[in-house]
Amino acid sequence: MQAVGETVGVIGAGQMGAGIAQVAAQAGYRVLLADVGRERAEAGKAGIAKQLDRLVAKEKIASGDAQAAVSRIEAVDGVAAMPECALVIEAATEREEIKRAIFKDVGAVLGADAVLASNTSSIPITRLAQASPDPARFVGVHFFNPVPVMGLIEVIRGLATSDATVAVIEDFAARLGKQVVHANDAPGFIVNRVLMPMLNEACFALGEGVATIRDIDLACQLGLNHPMGPLTLADFIGLDTCLEITRVLFEGTGDPKFRPAPVLVKYVEAGWYGRKTGRGFYDYTGETPEPTR
Ligand code: 3HC
Repeated sequence: MQAVGETVGVIGAGQMGAGIAQVAAQAGYRVLLADVGRERAEAGKAGIAKQLDRLVAKEKIASGDAQAAVSRIEAVDGVAAMPECALVIEAATEREEIKRAIFKDVGAVLGADAVLASNTSSIPITRLAQASPDPARFVGVHFFNPVPVMGLIEVIRGLATSDATVAVIEDFAARLGKQVVHANDAPGFIVNRVLMPMLNEACFALGEGVATIRDIDLACQLGLNHPMGPLTLADFIGLDTCLEITRVLFEGTGDPKFRPAPVLVKYVEAGWYGRKTGRGFYDYTGETPEPTR
């Protein structure tokens, strides 16, 4: 198995990027963390320090280990600092033109053997690879939220992705203590192909008056032993993201079974994206989330 090297670049210091930076730093990698400007990268690093402090308070990790992990993360101005990285992971906003612009910038500095990976949840890897410096060294690495808790990485090969590139990701995942599954470059890969129709169906059930928000969630939580009900999980992921991925499934397959539920579309049109906006299927502005209908 090919080794990753000791420095990993992470582009995007939001929820997913910060989570990836955190687990990489905890695994002993030096991490260069970039976002749109140093301030956002610093904010991402501060959030990671808080997460690690919580783990220390719960006696899950030693205080010295938390400090060491934070000290291995460097918030940087942009990709200019990344030529030394053997692996660069893009975890920016899920918009193709943004990712393409990042790959162009990375292309100017990426080392000759370095791997460029995208944490896209739905954009085809083969298409994104066209904007990368070398499609053979480009691969999809799909992490799950919350990254420090979820034990999976989906690895998605584009048509041109080389075996050596996949081996680099397998090595990285092993050091992070995460399991790898391999998916072909099909809409939604594995997890979102299976998950999004379930969340979307919960929205149809709500819209058709089958049951209340509370009862749909409780039914799936207790009846299926899921950690969260589907409407809670949709709020947690972000309803805008759920709709976006559902549209990718619908358009990518042409299959009407993936058509987005009208309720999901309406909530997104209303700007009710879930937890991140304070309201989705639940209202998050009080002490505990309350169903909105
Ligand atoms: N960061 C780090 N750790 C976190 C965390 C976070 N954001 N949120 C929770 N945790 C940890 C807690 O510290 C706790 O750890 P401990 O057991 O060692 O003390 C553990 O997770 C359990 O947390 P809580 O007791 O606070 O709460 P829950 O038991 O309700 O668990 C949950 C919270 C882990 C989020 C759980 O509800 C869950 O697994 N939900 C489903 C999450 C899921 O399905 N994620 C995948 C979404 S799909 C995706 O990401 C793909 C994308 O493309 C859409």
